[in-house]
Amino acid sequence: MGKFLLGVIITLVILILAGIGYAMLGFLPTPANVEPPHWERHFAMGAVDASMERHAPRATNPLTPTDQNLEDGMKLYTMNCALCHGGLDKKPSTLTTSFYPPAPNLISDPPDDPEWHVFYTIRTGIRYSGMPSWDKTLSEQDMWKITMLLSHLDKLPPAVQDYWKKNFNVAPDAGDEKKEDEKKEEHDHH
Ligand code: HEC
Repeated sequence: MGKFLLGVIITLVILILAGIGYAMLGFLPTPANVEPPHWERHFAMGAVDASMERHAPRATNPLTPTDQNLEDGMKLYTMNCALCHGGLDKKPSTLTTSFYPPAPNLISDPPDDPEWHVFYTIRTGIRYSGMPSWDKTLSEQDMWKITMLLSHLDKLPPAVQDYWKKNFNVAPDAGDEKKEDEKKEEHDHH
């Protein structure tokens, strides 16, 4: 029994040393200009989601979705997030696929997570990715305003939709029709 245990421990130590050696001898790739393999994304995103589920406080948005708060959210999003996550002008961000993992387009494909989850992501960032933490740069209020915008993208009041059109030269639902068309096309092909 003692010998068996010793064997297990020695095997584990060898495996750990081999892992460290593999990394320190330069076998791990560093380029960010490639797409992560499917299994890696699946595994990593599963781990990120599970960690947030465990750590993020179930906070509720202290602000009400007034026109003013939503419009503030648009300004804050444009200044701080659009560069990586795509703008309200519906043009894809030039940096979107320059990250490993890539930065999702939050306007054409808004997160369907609860607000506490999105708020926590914004406040604390995501380690070992291009997603910064914003707690040192933005006030809690401003982070809640951005969170609110992202969770209300498909149900903006008419005045806020007008504001969007006026300031970004494109209707809030533009591009969504295209998505419908694409879906239809895909459907037709099958
Ligand atoms: C410098 C580039 C950059 C900036 C600026 C940036 N992000 Fe990110 N963000 C990323 C990247 C890259 C990821 C993907 C991380 C991952 O998949 O692990 C990400 C992920 C996210 C996610 C998680 C999406 C998901 O699929 O769960 C949210 C939400 C988010 N960002 C919101 C924001 C908001 C809001 C802002 C502005 C306050 C912002 N980000 C600014 C690069 C950025």
